[in-house]
Amino acid sequence: MNSNNVQQSMYERAVEVLRVNDRGHYTVPTSGLYPFQWNWDSCLVSIGQQHIDEARAWAEMKTLFEHQWDDGMVPHIVFHEMDDGYFPGPEVWSTGRKIPTTGITQPPVAGFAALRLFDRAKDTELANKEAAELLVKIDRWHEWFYANRDPHGTGLVALIHPWESGRDNSVDWDIALDRVPTEGLEPYQRRDLQHASADHRPTAAQYDRYIWLVQHFRSLGWDNSVLHDASPFKVVDPGFNAILIRSCADIAELASRLGREDIAQRNKERAAFGLNALETLWSNSLQQYLCYDREGRELVDSASVGGLIPVIAALPENRSAAVAQRIDELSKSAKYLVPSHDPTDERYDSKRYWRGPSWLIVNYLIADGLRRAGHIELVQRIESSSLELINQSGFAEYYDPNTGEPCGGSTFTWTAAMVMEFISNAA
Ligand code: DGY
Repeated sequence: MNSNNVQQSMYERAVEVLRVNDRGHYTVPTSGLYPFQWNWDSCLVSIGQQHIDEARAWAEMKTLFEHQWDDGMVPHIVFHEMDDGYFPGPEVWSTGRKIPTTGITQPPVAGFAALRLFDRAKDTELANKEAAELLVKIDRWHEWFYANRDPHGTGLVALIHPWESGRDNSVDWDIALDRVPTEGLEPYQRRDLQHASADHRPTAAQYDRYIWLVQHFRSLGWDNSVLHDASPFKVVDPGFNAILIRSCADIAELASRLGREDIAQRNKERAAFGLNALETLWSNSLQQYLCYDREGRELVDSASVGGLIPVIAALPENRSAAVAQRIDELSKSAKYLVPSHDPTDERYDSKRYWRGPSWLIVNYLIADGLRRAGHIELVQRIESSSLELINQSGFAEYYDPNTGEPCGGSTFTWTAAMVMEFISNAA
């Protein structure tokens, strides 16, 4: 097969993955391991869906935002249909929602996805209508973030649970997670290990702390006005904050185009304030951004991909150039870009979820930022590395950056959506 045919066949397989995981008005990341609607999965998946069906793409985001809480939070999982194959299910979260949801949130890629859908829309009437509705809801979510996760007005929001980062078991959380107690933990049984190899997943000690935090927040009635201060885990993630900053900037752009100057103005201000504060997370010695442990009051010595994702925001030129250089360096110790942790660090684990593996959605976000900053050659290397992984190992959840081995779940929706994007970009 020539390379056009290879890409054509990959594209068709990607469309099939989206179809298999489509539940009509939302998409599951993969059946078995993740049988519900996940927040940032859905937003990124909508970008892929747009290649097939614009109305379906808008519906994906619309469904998610129908479950926005009254206080403005958009939850990380919506439990549309019961499924015993996942833990912790709705009974553990007990958030009191009619259609149950979890009580924590996830990286706000919504503004980014909404602007992308709007920019490429062929059905402009539909796009105007859907974007105008989403805009208001995303703006409320941004407001919720700064009010509840940055109560002291630093310009940076903290995560109160590792799951909020989307990078569940990153080395970034090790020290902060060690501080989380396990006394009073109710007995539970993990279900993820029925669907994926234990070597690819978080450890038992990490799970105990994940569940303890859920129990703790539940005991506080999921009142977001108190959870930040009451959580023993409070970490400022540069990647997460940069995604929020980009979401604010993109929503500001969308609002301007739709004549909502009020929304545009406050999101511009949020983005500028956040961007300025992000600079406090820069590490001169590691030449990348680092997490800040708000409870322990120190920067976290961990060279993870969370410190490279900030290139998605409008960084100063010297910072985006340094991030590009870091990625180039990583390519000397990892065959496939971009490893989620520096392979030269002894804590690197090539197959264990966010402690090393490469993820296509991260590649997509980083490539988008690098493209805007003009690092085109590196973008092409990231994109071709991503497609090589698919060609070799199929549509996995993540990949070993040394061998390309597929890890975690299979038939993964957002991986497929990103493949459609990479192939379209290359065309
Ligand atoms: C899980 O259950 O592994 C998820 O990452 C939580 O969002």
